[in-house]
Amino acid sequence: MSNSHYEKLRHELLQHQHTWLITGVAGFIGSNLLETLLKLNQKVVGLDNFATGFKKNLEEVLEKVTPEQRDNFLFYQGDICVLSDCAKAMKGVDLVLHQAALGSVPRSIKTPEITHATNVTGFLNSLMVAKDAGVKRFVYASSSSVYGDHPDLPKQEDKIGNPLSPYAVSKYTNELYAKAFSTCYGIETIGLRYFNVFGPRQNPAGPYAAVIPLWISALLKNEPVNINGDGETSRDFCYVENAVQGNLLAAMTQNKAAVNTVYNIAVGQQNTLKTLYSLLVENLNLSTQQELLYKNFRSGDIRHSLADVDKAKKLLGYHPAYSLQSGLKEMMEWYRVALVNY
Ligand SMILES: NC(=O)c1ccc[n+]([C@@H]2O[C@H](COP(=O)([O-])OP(=O)(O)OC[C@H]3O[C@@H](n4cnc5c(N)ncnc54)[C@H](O)[C@@H]3O)[C@@H](O)[C@H]2O)c1
Repeated sequence: MSNSHYEKLRHELLQHQHTWLITGVAGFIGSNLLETLLKLNQKVVGLDNFATGFKKNLEEVLEKVTPEQRDNFLFYQGDICVLSDCAKAMKGVDLVLHQAALGSVPRSIKTPEITHATNVTGFLNSLMVAKDAGVKRFVYASSSSVYGDHPDLPKQEDKIGNPLSPYAVSKYTNELYAKAFSTCYGIETIGLRYFNVFGPRQNPAGPYAAVIPLWISALLKNEPVNINGDGETSRDFCYVENAVQGNLLAAMTQNKAAVNTVYNIAVGQQNTLKTLYSLLVENLNLSTQQELLYKNFRSGDIRHSLADVDKAKKLLGYHPAYSLQSGLKEMMEWYRVALVNY
């Protein structure tokens, strides 16, 4: 890892213990945050209702840390839509990493009211309780979907278009609430617009699985690989360790100009779905390529996505350590082993 700023922060965290709340801790990104924080000897409270997360994600993390580090973790099974669950988890917390939400654009198109309840009401509950508990900072997961139909590439934080799905509306609403709360109550917030995060513990199963775990699963099981559109759709795929870095830097920055705003968290590299497919085949060492089955474009999907990560670099000292290629290399073994359990 070449980011000296992040290395310094990790070193400082090893010397000073804070208490963190990770909402959505049993999910993909939440459990990766948990692993990093426990390994840095931090105290972590986790809140999750297992809507889309798994107990096995928590068990896997706890097996990878020392008994002392394991004792630094306190888990509450609870729902962010229930104010008292949020309040219980928030007690004594210094820093919040709010990840709990229902992901997936297609899910939000099918059941917008369910996405709204978790992503908007649940978000507002978490923010209110954080404000009342006097937490030092509330860092939350936003999304590249906020850019909607804005044509510019790369995406810069202050140029957004019309949202293309209820999911995008929910994430943009989070940003508006966070800003209003910092104005009205002085709570420090930072929103991280993740761009297509991938890595270990991302669920490969179910109707709303993300493209990377879905395709790895299909390739390893010799099943058909479906592609939405013509394969030229592009994304800025971001390995989860980059997202973890973004969260830790956002939570700990002492730069006053860096708070109460939003950042792109990505690599700054654009890859088409066809390129992704070739890289997966290469990384899995498959001798034969599965045939790609071309399907219709999905409604609500952005055609091209590429982040400008300069703002996060300048204000937070963020430097994505992993590209799509190096991230895929890191995680392949996990999927080979884990897929038998899905
Ligand atoms: N993965 C990505 O590429 C990506 C991209 C942009 C934004 N995000 C955002 O990042 C965050 C984490 O996403 P992820 O990919 O880890 O998804 P995930 O589904 O793996 O994790 C979300 C977690 O939140 C929990 N949760 C959902 N509703 C809850 C509720 N009402 N109360 C308590 N817990 C609840 C789930 O059980 C799950 O463990 C989400 O806010 C998501 O919208 C993810």
